[in-house]
Amino acid sequence: MMGPMTRILLYTGKGGVGKTSIAAATALLSARRGYRTIVLSTDIAHSLADAFDVPLGPEPTVIEKNLWGQEPDVYHNIARYWSTIQKYMAELFSWRGLDAVLAEEMTVLPGMDELGNLLWIADHVESGDYDVIVVDAAPTGETLRLLSLPEASRWWIERIAPIGRRVSRIGRPMLERMIGVPMPRDEVFAAAERLLNRLDKVHRLLADPAQSSVRIALALEKLSIVEAQRSFTYFHLFGYPSDLVVCNRVLPSEMAGDGSFGGLRATQQRYLPEVEAQYAPVPVRTVPQFDREMIGTERLAEIGRALFGDDDPTSFFYRGRPYRVVAEGDEHVLEVLLPFTSRDAVQLTRDGDELLLQVDGLRRTIVLPRALVDAPTMGAKMEDGVLRIRFQGTKSTKSSKRGG
Ligand SMILES: Nc1ncnc2c1ncn2[C@@H]1O[C@H](COP(=O)(O)OP(=O)(O)OP(=O)(O)O)[C@@H](O)[C@H]1O
Ligand SMILES: [Mg+2]
Repeated sequence: MMGPMTRILLYTGKGGVGKTSIAAATALLSARRGYRTIVLSTDIAHSLADAFDVPLGPEPTVIEKNLWGQEPDVYHNIARYWSTIQKYMAELFSWRGLDAVLAEEMTVLPGMDELGNLLWIADHVESGDYDVIVVDAAPTGETLRLLSLPEASRWWIERIAPIGRRVSRIGRPMLERMIGVPMPRDEVFAAAERLLNRLDKVHRLLADPAQSSVRIALALEKLSIVEAQRSFTYFHLFGYPSDLVVCNRVLPSEMAGDGSFGGLRATQQRYLPEVEAQYAPVPVRTVPQFDREMIGTERLAEIGRALFGDDDPTSFFYRGRPYRVVAEGDEHVLEVLLPFTSRDAVQLTRDGDELLLQVDGLRRTIVLPRALVDAPTMGAKMEDGVLRIRFQGTKSTKSSKRGG
């Protein structure tokens, strides 16, 4: 399948579910198929080196033939993209009477460190050095926020950056006297624009269904499942294609056989069909709970084989978007792909920012995008395997065109 485009696979999921192990295993199998593969940790609590049991550094390090690993250095990233902006913010805060040390502290925005790490994706795509980039990302909530930030950045680039150019024409000193705040210097606008353009580039790469897939790892337990559902909905609504859900550490029958884990296995086996129904048509695969420490390339390869068998781990296991929001005049329509289902079989319930779909007794939760939270639901109908739920237009929904 490998063409001139770099394949990007990003793994996310709740803490401890096995993201790092699965990302490492995927990268390993990809490299052994002959693809030049880099596995990049964007979680600031790196553990890739531990999974491979080899030292890794902030620059790509060879692990074996065709396989590189990287644990980016947060401070390097901040210096590279953020220091000019940070200096201005410190100036602004201290001008507002904030203590200099505190001002300095406040300018490291939460999430900047992981964002800096994500920027490496664009660097690796541009370098042409790799066929495949596997990202071991931070746990769900964090990644979501980071991934959707670039959407906001486009707004900044379009609205604020031109002001910067105007400011330099009018003259800083005069403007500062007029509005009474230190104005950012040209280089601050330039640095912000550079940073946001990079973020926008990463966003566009990750949202490109021709090259990227976001994959969700989860454990067959309530909290992990619920959190995975939220992120899955968000990924689809906001245009990040996902092609695979991985249930990790599924107890095999022989391990549960002696009785002590029988109850846990029974619970997992009950959750599995629910998870499959929730994500359909996106495939759900499982990895068994192994009875050894899964560290080093040979153990990781075992995880990889359990997950992919003879399949190419870089395949697109699903193409398409099970949810999307389209604008129709003043209204918005949430489209949900529900093949092989009739309207009668679907029950809809609205609960705050969530829409509960009950299909043949199985529940699916869709977290509504912000633009639809306040919009009343106007009914739903089924058309060619797509459930179309209409939302009344409100002022706030009119100005927003997300996910369409
Ligand atoms: N299928 C499995 N069988 C046995 N052990 C596993 C399996 N998957 C992962 N592990 C082990 O579980 C631990 C946690 O896995 P891992 O570090 O991959 O999770 P993670 O989601 O990346 O965690 P974090 O959120 O902390 O980054 C590791 O010690 C790993 O070796
Ligand atoms: Mg990890």
